[in-house]
Amino acid sequence: MFQRPRGTRDFLPDEMERRRWIEARMRECARRWGYREVCTPAFEELELFTLRSGEAIIQEMYTFRDKGGREMVLRPEVTAPVLRMFVNEGRNIPKPIRWFYFADCFRYERPQKGRYRQFWQFGVELIGADSPRADAEVIALAEAMLRGCGIDFEMQVGHLAPVKHLLSGLPKEVAARVMQLLDKREFPALREYLEETGHPDLYDGLQGLTECRSLQELFEIIGHIEEGEWIQRVCSELDTYGVDYCLNFGIARGLDYYTGTVFEAFAQNLGAENQVLGGGTYRLAHLFGGEDLPSCGFAIGFDRVMVSLGEFRVPRKPAVAVIGMPEVEEYAAAVAKGMRGAGISVVRDTMERSVGSQLSHAAKIAEYAIIVGRKECETNTVTFKNLFSGEQRTLTLQEAIGEVAAHGDRA
Ligand code: HAM
Repeated sequence: MFQRPRGTRDFLPDEMERRRWIEARMRECARRWGYREVCTPAFEELELFTLRSGEAIIQEMYTFRDKGGREMVLRPEVTAPVLRMFVNEGRNIPKPIRWFYFADCFRYERPQKGRYRQFWQFGVELIGADSPRADAEVIALAEAMLRGCGIDFEMQVGHLAPVKHLLSGLPKEVAARVMQLLDKREFPALREYLEETGHPDLYDGLQGLTECRSLQELFEIIGHIEEGEWIQRVCSELDTYGVDYCLNFGIARGLDYYTGTVFEAFAQNLGAENQVLGGGTYRLAHLFGGEDLPSCGFAIGFDRVMVSLGEFRVPRKPAVAVIGMPEVEEYAAAVAKGMRGAGISVVRDTMERSVGSQLSHAAKIAEYAIIVGRKECETNTVTFKNLFSGEQRTLTLQEAIGEVAAHGDRA
């Protein structure tokens, strides 16, 4: 027997219906904020991701050499592909550009609950806007989208400037490692690393940044910084939007293209892998041959949202099994066609079962059975059976369609 590859999942119909239901909500939310969908290839040239992040990132990706000898990679995220696409195709589109995507991503990670090797992101990119208001719009949209899914979460907003300010005297590799440890919130390892590298005094400041909850506290720790006014304006825009958020200036973000405002959301009911959203402002377009455009975006970890929501029933239209006696096959086919034409979900027997066993199978998979024999064919009617109550009536096709439609969504 074959097993599915490690870190991947199979989705049965109930789960797929839940996923599509939530996806539809996210799409609808994006549409309401004026964002339009884009799609990029599932694989890209490896260099698209190593250009900014260096070769080390190869360890975390699904890379392969294609038959033409090109180094390729299954996309680990969608921001770089979207910016590549913007540089290739979108330069003449009026800015700012509001795009969204729903796509599977691939990372070679150690699988655990909420962490997969193939996972889906619902992401948004606001390209070519450079203002606190743009940052606030993206954060407000992120909040609205997660709220719309019905999960319980905390939105944390920060900015990279305070951390970078504290780390400004450090060699580049040391600062990069500190950012990594901060991102993973590995504080004991951070303290140890700072001691090893001869900067133990930085620990308290960094720790303080993760704990300060007001701008006043922030400025007490780092003094005046150039970006202070920007941070203040983002916060007041967020207040205007009515976004419920808390400040966290310890947010470092795992990907290294971020430049300023950063934000993350955490689901309240998940364990270790509880980050359901991450984003911020970044500059990538110039790396791919375009102008140096500031952008801001986020991606929701769709699978984590689904884990947080757990099992729930998606409203679904009732289904009908059309059961025809062999001698009226054409009439039964016409009845099924008429019902499908009215938008009803109809199944027919494909196993040449007896009417009795068709009915007992129908009771397991449908809400109604429509039984047609010679009598129904001659009078142009159907026998309409409610499979819950057992009640059975003779109706015209139109009446039967009306009955099913009146049932509404099943709970
Ligand atoms: P990211 O934080 O790497 O950001 O990923 C975004 C979200 O994807 C995470 O918050 C998490 O919920 C989910 N995620 C990441 N890895 C996995 C995994 N192995 N299994 C399940 N879920 C996962 C980005 O990817 C950026 N491109 C976001 C962005 C868009 N920044 C600007 N624009």
